[in-house]
Amino acid sequence: MKKTIKWGILGPGKIARKFAQDLLLHPDTEIYAVASRDSERAANFAAEFNVSRKYVSYQELVQDPEVDIIYIATPHVFHYEQAQLCLNAGKNILCEKPFGMNAREVTAISELAGNKELFAMEGIWTRFIPGTEKVLEIINSGAIGEILNIKADFGFLGNENTTRRVYDISLGAGSLLDIGIYPVYLSLLLQGIPKTINAMATFAAGGADIWCGILFDFENGSKAILESTMLANTEIEAVIYGSRATLIMHHRFHHTKQITVNYHNGTQETFNIGYTGNGYYHEIQEVMHCLKNGQTESQKVPLEMSLKLAATLDKIREIIGLKYDADLQHQK
Ligand SMILES: NC(=O)c1ccc[n+]([C@@H]2O[C@H](COP(=O)([O-])OP(=O)(O)OC[C@H]3O[C@@H](n4cnc5c(N)ncnc54)[C@H](OP(=O)(O)O)[C@@H]3O)[C@@H](O)[C@H]2O)c1
Repeated sequence: MKKTIKWGILGPGKIARKFAQDLLLHPDTEIYAVASRDSERAANFAAEFNVSRKYVSYQELVQDPEVDIIYIATPHVFHYEQAQLCLNAGKNILCEKPFGMNAREVTAISELAGNKELFAMEGIWTRFIPGTEKVLEIINSGAIGEILNIKADFGFLGNENTTRRVYDISLGAGSLLDIGIYPVYLSLLLQGIPKTINAMATFAAGGADIWCGILFDFENGSKAILESTMLANTEIEAVIYGSRATLIMHHRFHHTKQITVNYHNGTQETFNIGYTGNGYYHEIQEVMHCLKNGQTESQKVPLEMSLKLAATLDKIREIIGLKYDADLQHQK
């Protein structure tokens, strides 16, 4: 593939801005096009990031032959339809988390990407953060021994007026899919698929889960205690208890810059590991690497992982009784 990869941005909202800032840091990317349903929003984004083409429909964006890859940055419920729109038009995609509302949607997106031989990846940026890479290196070296238990939380004090998307059930709202996805992903990455899942939740009047507590039990006896909440600013920390040491991924664990390992023999190691830009740079590097090498999937966040993640989130939702329109459509 050519040296400069032309990116299209679909849905220039909050996360798209932070992501675009990191796209600008990569020497071989160009933020070539942006599409918003709102012409002013498209124009503002284009001016801010020096974007050549601005469109007021997503259809026009996917039809632009110059666009190599589209970053989908809209609320969860639109990912399924928009991923298909892009793939059917022959575009590679990086789609924000969650990839789809449920395993059915994720399966359909994955199959379409496979059939079209296009690159597709869920935006699990945590996997590419240098701090996460270090944690994997430490664990794989055997330094902390066998993983016995993981505790991880992600919570913020929400406000229905200022953080409306995360309360609006019609947009796929709730703590589990928005932020609980990070602790769940970490556990899947380090422990695999749980044998047994337990969960409970508290719901807002509109139906969004505003607190969710999750317990995983694994075949080898290890456990995970996970929490997502919009009711409190929690530590946003992950603690991995091993048979030889306890490893802490400090605040905010999903893009941690600090790791502490407390060995059972009383010694301690601390690692300070920064990242580039807002942290999305490393995910962008992976996408660029894949595109330049003709890979249709990332080996670090393969479609299979997105499927496992979606299936696990589905099971948790079944236990807490959280349904979205996307699930109901399936039953019709
Ligand atoms: N990786 C991360 O760190 C991270 C962080 C935050 C969010 N996210 C993910 O990114 C996605 C977007 O989150 P965000 O907070 O950036 O969203 P947002 O700013 O509320 O919206 C982003 C774009 O989505 C479209 N949109 C918003 N509300 C809509 C509605 N009611 N109907 C139709 N389209 C709508 C709009 O596109 P138009 O401009 O075309 O109208 C908007 O510009 C979510 O899936 C979230 O999980 C990821």
